[in-house]
Formats: sequence, structure tokens, C-alpha cells
Amino acid sequence: MVKICCIGAGYVGGPTMAVIALKCPAIEVAVVDISVSRINAWNSDTLPIYEPGLDEVVKQCRGKNLFFSTDVEKHVFEADIVFVSVNTPTKTQGLGAGKAADLTYWESAARMIADVSKSDKIVVEKSTVPVKTAEAIEKILTHNSKKINFQILSNPEFLAEGTAIKDLFNPDRVLIGGRETPDGQKAIQALKDVYAHWVPVDRIICTNLWSAELSKLAANAFLAQRISSVNAMSALCEATGADVTQVSHAVGKDTRIGPKFLNASVGFGGSCFQKDILNLVYICECNGLPDVANYWKQVIKVNDYQKTRFVNRVVASMFNTVSGKKIAILGFAFKKDTGDTRETPAIDVCKGLLGDKAKLSIYDPQVTGDQIQRDLAMKKFDWDHPVHLQPLSPTSVKEVSVVWDAYEATKDAHGICIMTEWDEFKTLDYQKIYDNMQKPAFVFDGRNIVDVEKLREIGFIVYSIGKPLDPWLKDMPAVA
Ligand code: UDX
Ligand code: UDX
Ligand code: ADP
Repeated sequence: MVKICCIGAGYVGGPTMAVIALKCPAIEVAVVDISVSRINAWNSDTLPIYEPGLDEVVKQCRGKNLFFSTDVEKHVFEADIVFVSVNTPTKTQGLGAGKAADLTYWESAARMIADVSKSDKIVVEKSTVPVKTAEAIEKILTHNSKKINFQILSNPEFLAEGTAIKDLFNPDRVLIGGRETPDGQKAIQALKDVYAHWVPVDRIICTNLWSAELSKLAANAFLAQRISSVNAMSALCEATGADVTQVSHAVGKDTRIGPKFLNASVGFGGSCFQKDILNLVYICECNGLPDVANYWKQVIKVNDYQKTRFVNRVVASMFNTVSGKKIAILGFAFKKDTGDTRETPAIDVCKGLLGDKAKLSIYDPQVTGDQIQRDLAMKKFDWDHPVHLQPLSPTSVKEVSVVWDAYEATKDAHGICIMTEWDEFKTLDYQKIYDNMQKPAFVFDGRNIVDVEKLREIGFIVYSIGKPLDPWLKDMPAVA
């Protein structure tokens, strides 16, 4: 029986291993983590992450061939294949601060593997890491082991949160990079055999290590670039009277471009896009390629611009001040169907509004008040460090209240900002909401999900990203 161990029971490690266990009943899968609370949650009825379909998969395999444990060393010792899926934060100090990946957790995982191993192992890089990390890991493993053969593979995960199970069941491709030596090829084949249980072999791509590592950064950079491109167009649409939805539809019909990932929004978020582009930028700079670095940097700049622009719109529309006004924030997660708030645009928008002295009432169906308070108190790039390194009891932001209902959040509010495209926000009783708000009542839709005409009929003043402006907003000061 092949034994797999995955170090890191997070958004990537948890769902990926659950699906491997489901699809490969003959493989024993152990997911380990140093966080006791996380492992306890994986072993309980309330999993630590919200992901449609995940509960069913875990229920089917847990206790059979899927185990969650804090006994990291035991499971690494027993495993034939060790996946490493630990966090790789952006460095907050020292060389490369604000750009380079902090590989502390990776390095300590590698040293532990070298320490406890008594048999040959395949070590798989699962978390996204800067190019050539495998080489560093290989050095740590081979210089610390006692005649054990370690093969390093890069097998980046392409799942998106909110659709993780769907993406894992039916991936566009699985990418496996390894050494171009006979032993390296053997290791690639062993991992390919695991995925071949359910992924058609023509969708399993095998490359060298560096191509696999770089492809992951490149794919995320290309995806983020599409969003920044359409968001840049949204600003021009507002200035000219074009409608960004019509523009992206027309552009996306070109099969060379395609229709996906062209939704204008308040900005992209999530744990990957910004971090991976920063990694790419740093690698370009280190390789003496400042022009290439600047090209990719611009994708992040446009994303920051989009968030600032949104805040400016809100403030300008409401007579240039939101001081003391209650603003309802609907949605805090970085996208729908996840409770994840890492790099969510809602953080920057909320901070921007608080900077103008607004009072916020926030509602998200999957995010707790504690999490929101912690996010708003945290410094940039601190989110990927373990909780014990984050402010322990964050002084909660006084002007922020977190409620468990959209109607409660919007009661007596002057304006509503929609930050996440949760389906339930499409079907709210907006007449009831309008009746309970201060007038004039504003809706600022950062995800273009509301029916603008219907809301205007009710009496709302509506702003949607990249759409012809409400006559009210046209008379307000221009927003740069
Ligand atoms: C372009 C648009 O494709 C077309 O839709 C529009 O109506 C007019 O402009 P054209 O300039 O004729 O058409 O050729 P195109 O095939 O788009 O190529 C433009 C340039 O990009 C060429 O120099 C081509 O060699 C280059 N190219 C194209 C690449 O370098 N890589 C590619 O993958 C595709
Ligand atoms: C992304 C990649 O899609 C995935 O392949 C990779 O493995 C990890 O990073 P994820 O961050 O989970 O996945 O979500 P994704 O669906 O890509 O969305 C990222 C952000 O872009 C979200 O904030 C989303 O709201 C935003 N977005 C996405 C848009 O603003 N417009 C779009 O058209 C698509
Ligand atoms: P991702 O979104 O990439 O899955 P997460 O931050 O959700 O990232 O998950 C990473 C997990 O890795 C965390 O739960 C963290 O506790 C765990 N981790 C970090 N370092 C180690 C280590 N040395 N041993 C075991 N688990 C670790």
C-alpha cells in the first residue's frame, strides 16, 4: 500500500488530499499540521474551511484511508510520498521585504523530513514557491540525510477556492515537474500513477522542475493580468459612457481571447495573485530584468488603483464626506463560496472608508467577526504568518460592527457597498432595505450583481463598476 503524507492542512493540502483519498481507496493519506486547532477542526463536523462539496468527500474517507493528525514526524517517517503544502508568506523585513517569499516554514519542514526519514522518499512541492525552491530543498534534504534517496517534484495546485472540489475532480491539467534523470523520471511516474486513478493521462503534463514552478507563477500572473486589464477598461467606460459588461462580452467572443475571467470588479483578492506576481517581480529583478519586473508590477498597481477608485467614488457621491455615516458592507470574503479573507479587496475598501471616518456595519455569510476585526487591524503581508505571530487580541476597530444578517447591516445606513458576489445578495428584498435606510440611499456594487434598473426604480442611487453613471454621480466631482 502506497502511503502519502501531506504537511500543511490548509486550503490547498486539505481538499487536495481528501480528493486523492476518495479517488484512490488503496492509498493511505495522512494530512498533518502543527496547528492543533486546525487538525481538531478537520476531525470534527465543522471543517476549518468552507468549500462546497468538501464535507461529503471528507465524510466518505475520514477514518478509512484519510487521516488528520498533529503527529507530523510519525506520518512523514511512514510515507512514500510527502507533499509539502505549508504557507509561504511575503517577507515583511530584511532582503526582499514586501516582495520575496519567506521560506521559513518550507525550510523547517524540509529539515524535519531529512531528520525523521529512514527510507527513500518522493518530496512534492505543492504550495506555490519561487522558481528554484526545489533546488534549495534538495540541498537541505541531501546534505542532512543518511544515504537516503530523496526525489523532489514540483506539482503546483491550480484549484480555485469556492470550486476546489470541482477543480480537483476535473482539472484542466495536472502539472508534474521533476529531474531529468532516470530516478527523477521514476518519481514523476509514481506521482502520475496516483493522479491517473481519475485524471485522463493526456491531461497530466510532465516537465522539468523549473518549468513546473514557473508555470504556476505565470498562470496566476496571466489570470490576474486579465482582471487588471478589464478593470482598467472599466475606468475608461465610466468616463466615456461605454458599458464594461458589453465590452468584455464583445472582446471575449474572440476565441483567441475567450470569455472567462473578464468580470470587472472592485479588484482581485485571494492568497495567490498578488503574492505570486510579487514573487515573479522579485525573480525578474534578481535576474537583472527591471523592464519585465515593471510590466508585472503594473498589474498590481492597477488592482490597487481599482480599490482606491471605488472608495473615492463612495466618498465623492455622498457629498464628499462619509464622516459619521453608517455604511453597510455586504460581503467580506475575497470571492463567493469561501470564508477566506486573505488579500480581499474588502480590507482596503473598509480601511479607506474608515480613513474618512465612516461607521461600518459588515455582513458576510461565512466570515466571523473575529476574523474581520483581525484583518482590519493587521499590517499588510502579516496574514500568512501563523496566528500566534499576529496581534493576539486585536484592539477591535470601534467604528466597525459585524452582524449576521444583511437587513441588520443595512438598517439606517446611508449607503451599501457590495464587496463579494454572494448569490444571496442578488435576491435580497431591496424595497425593504430601501425603506429602512437614510435618504438618499446609495448602492455601490463592487461586483456588478444587482439589477441596476430595478434598484433605480425603487429609488436607490446606484454605482456599478464600469457602467454608464447614474445622473446623480455625473454631477459629483470627478474621481481619479
Ligand atoms: C490584428 C488582429 O488580430 C485583428 O483581429 C485585427 O482586426 C487587426 O489586427 P493582424 O495585425 O493582421 O491582426 O495580425 P495578428 O495575427 O493579430 O498578429 C499581429 C502580430 O502579433 C504579428 O506580428 C504576429 O506575428 C504577432 N503574434 C501573434 C505573436 O507574436 N504571437 C502570437 O501568439 C500571435
Ligand atoms: C487563483 C487561481 O484561479 C487558481 O488557479 C490558483 O491555483 C490560485 O489562485 P483563487 O485565488 O482561489 O484561485 O480564486 P480566483 O477564482 O482565481 O479569483 C481570484 C480573485 O479574482 C477573486 O478576488 C475574484 O473575485 C477576482 N476575479 C476573478 C475578478 O475580479 N474577475 C474575474 O473575472 C475573475
Ligand atoms: P494554503 O492556502 O497554501 O493551503 P494555508 O496557510 O491555508 O495555505 O496552510 C498552510 C498550513 O501549513 C497551515 O495550517 C500551517 O499551520 C501549516 N504548517 C506550516 N509549517 C508547518 C510545519 N513545519 N509542519 C506542519 N505544518 C505546517
